[in-house]
Amino acid sequence: MGSAQRIRTSTFFAALSALLVLGAAATQGRAPWPLRTPAPVPDGRPAVLARASEVKCGECHARHLEEWASTTHALAWENEPYQEDLEGRKKAESCHGCHAPERLHGADDALLAGKPAARKDERHFGVSCESCHMAHDGALLGPTGAPTDKHATRKGASFVGAGSNALCAACHRTTVGPVIGLARDFEESKAAESGATCVSCHMATVAEVGEGEARREVRSHALQSPRDPAFLALGFEYELSAESSAVKLAIHNLAGHRVPGLIGRELEFRARALAADGKELATETLTLTTETYLPVDESAVLELPAATAKVQLEGWHHDPRLEKPVRFVERELAR
Ligand code: HEC
Ligand code: HEC
Ligand code: HEC
Ligand code: HEC
Ligand code: HEC
Repeated sequence: MGSAQRIRTSTFFAALSALLVLGAAATQGRAPWPLRTPAPVPDGRPAVLARASEVKCGECHARHLEEWASTTHALAWENEPYQEDLEGRKKAESCHGCHAPERLHGADDALLAGKPAARKDERHFGVSCESCHMAHDGALLGPTGAPTDKHATRKGASFVGAGSNALCAACHRTTVGPVIGLARDFEESKAAESGATCVSCHMATVAEVGEGEARREVRSHALQSPRDPAFLALGFEYELSAESSAVKLAIHNLAGHRVPGLIGRELEFRARALAADGKELATETLTLTTETYLPVDESAVLELPAATAKVQLEGWHHDPRLEKPVRFVERELAR
């Protein structure tokens, strides 16, 4: 089983638990952060789906096609880690429902209950435009149902505000293979309470259209993903505080769920404690894996010597899909 080989970190847990003090993060009521328009990222963004030009929707929705084509949604079937993981599995068919799904909506345009069903053909299109958008009768469901003579359209609850969380959760709620069902965390998170959605954090706004009540944000299908160090950096906040016996560095989780959520990924924080004269007093490391993960809305605390005046902090992302570790944070924090 490929996924088992990618776990190489369970031994970290014992060493780590001594350092981990969990507490509520200061995320109450926080508005979702402003997202940038996704730029091409050299660090491990998936390649473009080679056969994307065969997707007919792209004739008219060129922007959507281009954005989608270089996501893991487009590559969910072709993706090497997926195909490798299937090798030798007796029930590989049970995996395909989320990696090459049939239409996700049934009668009344409601999301079908249960695990998504696998598509019989064109599996190479992965999580396709049709999977998410096509209704049982061939109409296309979207956030406004804008009328056109090109095809039937309807407004669908899965594309508006909090209704869209259920669409994402259809596949992201289950823990299976190397995957943690992050949507469960999200449902109980402060982010959900404050009105953030999966879409508001993972699909950046590219334009605003309409006026008054009809005003809405048009969003990019290029998923904001932790492979992008700038996005990953938004997931954490740091706080240095002094107590009589120690200086504490709190690392708050601002993502809408635990981090990380995929077996094999690791986030490593390295803190170098310096005295007022610049002398190094100590170094501490915190490694987050799917076993030693940082729960939603919580914080990890590193204890540093009482004489610590400032801390040099680095955050490194180890992802089996990246050629080498990527630094996503480099900061100096002073007391
Ligand atoms: C309920 C939906 C669902 C099912 C069923 C499912 N997966 Fe996945 N799979 C996902 C999601 C969602 C992700 C992405 C998670 C992430 O990026 O954090 C994923 C990602 C993966 C990846 C990681 C790909 C990469 O880029 O590294 C592998 C490998 C994988 N799945 C294998 C499997 C195998 C094997 C099965 C069958 C035992 C399976 N999946 C069944 C939803 C599913
Ligand atoms: C994982 C599900 C998913 C997939 C796959 C997907 N979409 Fe979307 N799409 C959405 C969601 C969610 C929205 C609403 C986003 C928002 O809040 O504006 C949306 C919005 C849209 C809109 C209307 C909003 C706008 O930008 O004007 C169009 C058109 C669209 N998608 C086309 C496509 C096409 C074409 C593809 C394939 C290339 C595709 N989508 C793939 C989920 C998906
Ligand atoms: C011949 C051109 C054409 C093709 C092909 C086409 N569309 Fe459209 N589609 C349009 C036009 C025009 C609109 C009206 C609004 C707009 O411009 O986005 C529209 C609207 C939509 C909407 C509604 C957006 C909303 O506001 O709610 C969705 C969703 C959508 N299309 C998805 C798709 C998908 C998925 C495919 C492929 C299966 C597809 N379209 C194929 C031209 C096309
Ligand atoms: C039909 C199932 C399905 C639905 C619906 C779905 N996803 Fe995914 N998603 C996947 C799979 C499968 C993967 C991973 C594919 C792989 O790596 O092979 C994935 C990967 C991702 C990733 C990781 C991207 C990366 O590059 O690491 C993010 C983020 C994500 N999805 C967000 C969303 C959001 C937001 C929604 C709702 C708008 C959504 N997904 C809806 C199946 C789905
Ligand atoms: C408040 C913002 C926020 C919300 C809300 C949010 N996410 Fe995330 N998500 C993040 C950040 C930041 C990361 C990167 C952290 C990491 O995984 O290291 C991330 C990572 C991910 C990943 C990659 C995980 C991995 O380990 O490969 C997936 C998949 C994902 N989110 C899906 C979702 C889904 C589905 C929802 C809604 C149920 C959601 N997210 C809600 C901010 C958010």
